[in-house]
Amino acid sequence: MSFRIQPAAPARPNRCQLFGPGSNTKLFEKMAASEADVINLDLEDSVTPSDKNAARANVIRAINGVDWGKKTLSVRINGLDTPYWYRDVVDLMEQAGPRLDQIMIPKVGCAEDVYAVDALVTGIERAMGREKPVSFEVIIESAAGIAHVEAIAASSPRLQAMSLGAADFAASMGMQTTGIGGTQENYYMLREGQKHWPDPWHWAQAAIVAACRTHGVLPVDGPFGDFSDDEGYIAQARRSATLGMVGKWAIHPKQIALANQVFTPSEEAVAEAREILAAMEEAKRTGAGATVYKGRLVDIASIKQAEVVVKQAELIAKG
Ligand code: COA
Ligand code: MG
Repeated sequence: MSFRIQPAAPARPNRCQLFGPGSNTKLFEKMAASEADVINLDLEDSVTPSDKNAARANVIRAINGVDWGKKTLSVRINGLDTPYWYRDVVDLMEQAGPRLDQIMIPKVGCAEDVYAVDALVTGIERAMGREKPVSFEVIIESAAGIAHVEAIAASSPRLQAMSLGAADFAASMGMQTTGIGGTQENYYMLREGQKHWPDPWHWAQAAIVAACRTHGVLPVDGPFGDFSDDEGYIAQARRSATLGMVGKWAIHPKQIALANQVFTPSEEAVAEAREILAAMEEAKRTGAGATVYKGRLVDIASIKQAEVVVKQAELIAKG
């Protein structure tokens, strides 16, 4: 480990972030009753320009009026290139009560985007005498966002989570696809005449995970648009979990159970991790730094790997 110790990410479950348009008030109670760890009420791209003011008022009413239980409650504001974002922040910070946990900033392209929102939020928090600081999450969904991802991850102590937004990311990168995440037909390797489909989102995900882990931020996989394709969602989520992401968005309620299942370590995985920890305890007693578990090498690094699984399971069990 470097002299600088890697900071821990916020210790709260973030397996599924459920989205709903701020203009669709019928959904709010259903979202609150769902099994999602995080709720994202949207003021941005699922709300048409003519509905922006009404959606903002709906969301503020719902933050204050709906029982959100223990969920992390987040509002996605409009991007800093729009005429809406400052009013989103001002009205939320002045009118939404302490139940508002988090603000999601979309299309972040540089650390200064976060700085600008931080300055505004900080000023209003002080003016209002707000005791609980509002946290931030950001979406990396542009070429600039991924190019500056490390600086963005380091941009503010308020920052708790960072998601990859596949659709806007693909558009900004000029990718020839209209799919939101998942396998892309034309992204294939050929071997002996057989096609094999690698993951075009892989490098962006890995860059986000590395930036997040360096700065103690939760890395999250964004939306999977085809909500009729459960297998496709699960495959994408499993790849994300394997790379170090802690959760995934749901844009339809049927995706919540899928995310919760993938991002909750299985009983078998936890049992195996505990066995590895026990095997290493035993090895340490005999003065060895490495031993054999089920025919394979385990050593001091294996303790840290096993602890990732056990700690994640414990955190989720605590709720
Ligand atoms: N949260 C909670 N409940 C939801 C929901 C959501 N995001 N989306 C749908 N539901 C409910 C519906 O109200 C319906 O409830 P009912 O059985 O009590 O009538 C049930 O789930 C089934 O919904 P369904 O008919 O399959 O979907 P729909 O046509 O009503 O809505 C979408 C489909 C995609 C428009 C809707 O799911 C949606 O708005 N998703 C979020 C989009 C979003 O926020 N995008 C921004 C982030 S990318
Ligand atoms: Mg987007």
